[in-house]
Amino acid sequence: MGSVANAPVAGSSGAFEFATPERLVFGPGVVARAGELARSLGQRWLLVTGRDVRRAEPLRESFRNAGLDWVECTVTGEPTVADASAGADRAIATRADGVVACGGGAVIDAGKAIAALATHPGNPFRFLEIIGQGRPLENAPLPFMAVPTTAGTGAEATRNAVLRSPEHALKVSLRSPRMVPKVALVDPELAVGLPSALTACTGLDALTQLLEPWVGSKANGMTDACCREGLPRMARSLARAVDDGRNLAARTDLGFGALLSGLALAHSGLGAVHGLAGPIGGRFPAPHGAVCAALLGPVWRANVETLRRSDAHPAALDRYRQAARWLTGHPGAAIDDGLRWITESVAGWKIPRLARYGLTPSDFPALIEAAQASSSMKGNPIRLPDRVLEQALAEAL
Ligand SMILES: [Fe+2]
Repeated sequence: MGSVANAPVAGSSGAFEFATPERLVFGPGVVARAGELARSLGQRWLLVTGRDVRRAEPLRESFRNAGLDWVECTVTGEPTVADASAGADRAIATRADGVVACGGGAVIDAGKAIAALATHPGNPFRFLEIIGQGRPLENAPLPFMAVPTTAGTGAEATRNAVLRSPEHALKVSLRSPRMVPKVALVDPELAVGLPSALTACTGLDALTQLLEPWVGSKANGMTDACCREGLPRMARSLARAVDDGRNLAARTDLGFGALLSGLALAHSGLGAVHGLAGPIGGRFPAPHGAVCAALLGPVWRANVETLRRSDAHPAALDRYRQAARWLTGHPGAAIDDGLRWITESVAGWKIPRLARYGLTPSDFPALIEAAQASSSMKGNPIRLPDRVLEQALAEAL
């Protein structure tokens, strides 16, 4: 098993660079340390929360105990460029020393973008990729602390913030090595009470973010280490957390797995699931985790069938076989057992199909064109022709 797990992927040279938050603080109860960690960075904070502002109460308590001052802003749904700009204006107006975000992946992304734009007043499109000029940030962002309350996007460990531009019908990134959070504080207790459906979708997003770097063309030894630790944890604990949201051991596995997924994706990129999920999320009101979850099985099948027809990447099939062993927990599992595990999990947890969000086959050509041009698609283990992506979308519809 070891030799298979260590088989190199095509194009991997052994060289890598790895950037992490300055402080990674993980474990049940660590939110109580938020105030002390924040105080070492500044006195006045902008606190960004999601729709349910009560989820940030343990963080407020810690800030109160540390004698910090803060003002709050709320982000509902996946943040737009305008949301990030407005938040940055608020940070400037209140002379915030730093930004702390407490919520799901969208809230973390909003806070990360606000911290960056707060030191770059003016038009944010200067720095946005694809729809803007994509210029590098000129100044260091405000210190940013990420406190996730779901085990999903891993945004607490990444250097980009995904923002929606409704006028372009696209989701794009504000991206800079300087945007890696100063502090990532991951307390699995904050996810206790997250509803089952959200636990399933966010968990399958994190699982996808471990699978895609593991099988992908840009894997390296460090990202492999993240995936090797993260995939078995996600697989063994996702069902337990979906069944019983109060299972702290399972929540701890998911929180750690999601953190590792962020570290992996930030350095190895992703694959066709995320290549398709980006344009779908830009055009339809579909939560990112749910879209990834719906596409995970169809893209697994598309990749495996395409790899089997080509002799060029045998190591990628070995990696799918290893992933199947981790997912199922069976050392003798075959690749198709992994697909069965995904298909049965997605059906059992009632993950909505893509048609639920208004997708129809007439949308496929534009989605596929955008997906083929995406940066995620470049990490896929093999180039998928348009007709194969079309089949995968049809299967997820
Ligand atoms: Fe994702």
